[in-house]
Amino acid sequence: MSQSTEFDLLMIGVDDTTSKAIQPFTSDLRVRAITTPAEVEELIESIQLPPGMLVLVSSAIKELSQFEIGQALSSSYAGIHINFVTSERSTFDLTNLKKNGFTDTFLFPMDIKRIEERIETVKVNKLSAFKKYKAVKVVDIKSNQKLPFEVRTFLPLNNKYVKLTKDGVLSDKKAETLKSKNINSVFIDVREVEAFYDFAAEQMMSLGLAGNDAVSETEKQEQFQSNVRNLFRSFLDVSTTSGDLEQGRDLLEQSKKVVESYVIKKTGLDLRSKFREILGTGGDSYSHAQSVSTIASLLSMATGIGKPEEVAIAGLFHDIGKQGVGDEVSVFNCADLEPEVLATYHGHPRLSLSILREKRVTLIPLIAEMIEKHHERVDGRGFPGKVQAHKIPIEAQLLSYADAFEHLSGPHPGMKAFTPAEIHAKISAEVGISIEVLSRIEKFVISVAAPEGDQGPGKAPSAG
Ligand SMILES: [Fe+2]
Ligand SMILES: [Fe+2]
Repeated sequence: MSQSTEFDLLMIGVDDTTSKAIQPFTSDLRVRAITTPAEVEELIESIQLPPGMLVLVSSAIKELSQFEIGQALSSSYAGIHINFVTSERSTFDLTNLKKNGFTDTFLFPMDIKRIEERIETVKVNKLSAFKKYKAVKVVDIKSNQKLPFEVRTFLPLNNKYVKLTKDGVLSDKKAETLKSKNINSVFIDVREVEAFYDFAAEQMMSLGLAGNDAVSETEKQEQFQSNVRNLFRSFLDVSTTSGDLEQGRDLLEQSKKVVESYVIKKTGLDLRSKFREILGTGGDSYSHAQSVSTIASLLSMATGIGKPEEVAIAGLFHDIGKQGVGDEVSVFNCADLEPEVLATYHGHPRLSLSILREKRVTLIPLIAEMIEKHHERVDGRGFPGKVQAHKIPIEAQLLSYADAFEHLSGPHPGMKAFTPAEIHAKISAEVGISIEVLSRIEKFVISVAAPEGDQGPGKAPSAG
């Protein structure tokens, strides 16, 4: 059985002089010092080091050379930082250290500033790794009603997460404070986020349904649209939310999870496990599929095109046949492909369908058609069937849009992110979607770009 790590920094055979030199930077970290060959052996055999773990090694274990330690660690763990630290120039054999798996080397006293910076990174990683609270967008959290989770706000001055709810109930007064300060992001204990996703999905469903309630239909529709916008926004500003990348990722994940929960509730189909069942482990293609599924579903809720749960299912399975082409290939760059690869790419919508049939996944005809036609164009120049405009259902066009949107809203190495208007313009010009569908989506995408007084953890209400 592997033990879990209860330390932030691992020091192996670090001599006293070096330990003293770095002591000022490590005082608030949990340090594990290893000083015997038996402990090194135990480490290699039974301790699971997480990726990103920082390891400092010097040559104070007589029976084991630093090279052996470097080799053993680098072959047992991928992604950990193995640093050699010393104040003895005679042991500082740069070429051999690098050859034996050391990622970086520090010689004291001249490298003291560099090691300080390196150790600082542990503190930053630690903050995110041990984070207890997840940012979520406020999705119609009602006051004076029992919620299946507690809601907190972040007070930057005190660096504290303060509870707004009491036993899961948000008082009218606190709800008012959130509203008046335009706070859309709150924090939830990581152990309660599943309950939050389910709750948010249920809220969306009940808002989407007509029924007699204290709230008027117009008001319900407004709340519904505002929730959809909130969830969709995270696809646009994953890297810019409050300048906080971690929070941006949390919110993006929230969108996906809420839509997933929505689909499970509506159809009883657990998309994630179905996908894994068909494709094995998923990996990168799952991330594209899940994003397209979420975007398509939210666009459907926003525009009324198709049923959100149906386009979500089509989105999840649309590229299952896109094998042997590379996940990065899209309608925007497929022109550069070799002819044989291009032919394979052009075949993927139909291959997706055959794989689903082979795996005995039964789909209603419209979902199958969305998958088959997600690369057809209304000008007849699409693939695989080059079909005419009237034969492409608007749901398939919505899926085309979501697919293109996912490719364009993702990170572009070395490029600035596209604005929503730029994304929409590019899709309008290049993807072959009808004016009707484009104009219905445009209104929504542009409205998402206009913030509704969204605030990150930077501006919080008083805990009152
Ligand atoms: Fe595709
Ligand atoms: Fe795709």
